Amino acid sequence: MAEDWSAELRRAAAYVEAHAADFEQRWAQWLRIPSISADPAHRPDLERAADWLLEQFRGLGLTAEKIPTAGAPLVYAESPPVQGAPTALVYGHYDVQPAEPIQAWESPPFEPTRRNGAMYARGATDDKGQLLTHLWSTEAWLRAVGRLPVQLKFLIEGEEEIGSSHLEQFLRDRPQRAVCDCVVISDGAQFGPDQPAICYGLRGIAYYELRLKGPKRDLHSGSFGGTVTNPANALAQMLAGLVDERGRIQIPGFYDDVTPLSAEERERLASLPFDEEKFLADLGVSGATGEEGYTLLERRWARPTFDIHGLWSGYQGEGAKTVLPAEAGAKFSFRLVPYQDPAKITLGLRQRLQELCPPGIQMELLETHGTPAVLAPVESPYVQAAVRAIQQAFGRPPVFIREGGSIPIVAAFQQAFPIPVLLVGWGQDDDNTHAPNERLRLVDFHRGIQASIYLWAELALAFPRH
Ligand code: BES
Ligand code: ZN
Repeated sequence: MAEDWSAELRRAAAYVEAHAADFEQRWAQWLRIPSISADPAHRPDLERAADWLLEQFRGLGLTAEKIPTAGAPLVYAESPPVQGAPTALVYGHYDVQPAEPIQAWESPPFEPTRRNGAMYARGATDDKGQLLTHLWSTEAWLRAVGRLPVQLKFLIEGEEEIGSSHLEQFLRDRPQRAVCDCVVISDGAQFGPDQPAICYGLRGIAYYELRLKGPKRDLHSGSFGGTVTNPANALAQMLAGLVDERGRIQIPGFYDDVTPLSAEERERLASLPFDEEKFLADLGVSGATGEEGYTLLERRWARPTFDIHGLWSGYQGEGAKTVLPAEAGAKFSFRLVPYQDPAKITLGLRQRLQELCPPGIQMELLETHGTPAVLAPVESPYVQAAVRAIQQAFGRPPVFIREGGSIPIVAAFQQAFPIPVLLVGWGQDDDNTHAPNERLRLVDFHRGIQASIYLWAELALAFPRH
């Protein structure tokens, strides 16, 4: 007979209600720590953010440890095994993106502020707030009920925003630590306001830095312009040569491994309640762009793209300066779709950039990080369990979506264990992730906690009993 958890669920829900303010307050404490993984100067903050989390796990009586890596530490915690019930592994990250441009924040990025029904801070949603929903649901079960319906493992890292290389290494070296029946990740978004979603696909990424050197010193552009290649001009031409006006990426072999979208999936994506006009209006733009022949959602989730993230060269100060700069550089990436291999993309890119590189320019291409795309199977009793948990917490069933972002460890989990990965994001697309004024709405935070409370019970009920 299936167990009935209704009395326990009521007790856990009452605990959450009584502790809502305390949950927000501890979340804000964590957000004060500027755990920016991209900047080595913040290494001590990564350590502090990991320590804070470790204390929370220990305070709940979980077995927890901080695992050093060659980069930022991992935090691992587990609850006791539960006979006849599955083990779920919660993954998340305590590192955050740089907060620049700081002056564009309405309240300082590391001084969490509650306003308009949301918590504003760097990491509010990506991923401290979303990750904490699973910790607070665990706390509610343990404190109000005394036990969890499933075994939980938490594997939390501090380098997601820079490619997760040390966690990948850890999974290769010590996969037994992560053995589980399913993985749960909240590091994405709902489909829209009040429209929760389960995500079954993420794009991959291949990220690069290109550095160009021209003459050995800056030159007067009047005296020297027209004689030697200007690295800034070269950079503009080379980057423009990577994509054509139809949005097709111009790298040899780039599309070789891209599989066409099935008619059935295109239909399913087209049936999602998506308002393109509103999407563009919210972003303050007058028109869309992208690869010809695909809808906006297809281009956003299921087609590869090229984007420049940073450009530097020449004079950036006030007024005009007529200089022919000696150097130029850019950071850029390609979002990848299933079956594209970041290493193959690098080979093609190198070849293409060499073709595009004009005389008198020395180029250096650095590979920053790369991760393949993933497609997660949706036919699983655990996915059905997540559907029921979300339905109960949000009052409506989730839709199935893909997302355009990347979570490097998902592919590594899929390689290590053939198990379902549940991507259940609680945020919204307008939460300003990676941008100024990042936030998570308090309703989404609290509904996330509720859904997570239900999820542990639903996963227990979904476990095949022998
Ligand atoms: N939370 C995002 C991933 C994400 C973004 C999922 C949008 C769903 C929708 C994650 O923290 C992230 O930003 N990942 C990086 C990974 C990269 C640096 C390897 C990304 O996608 O840029
Ligand atoms: Zn992120």
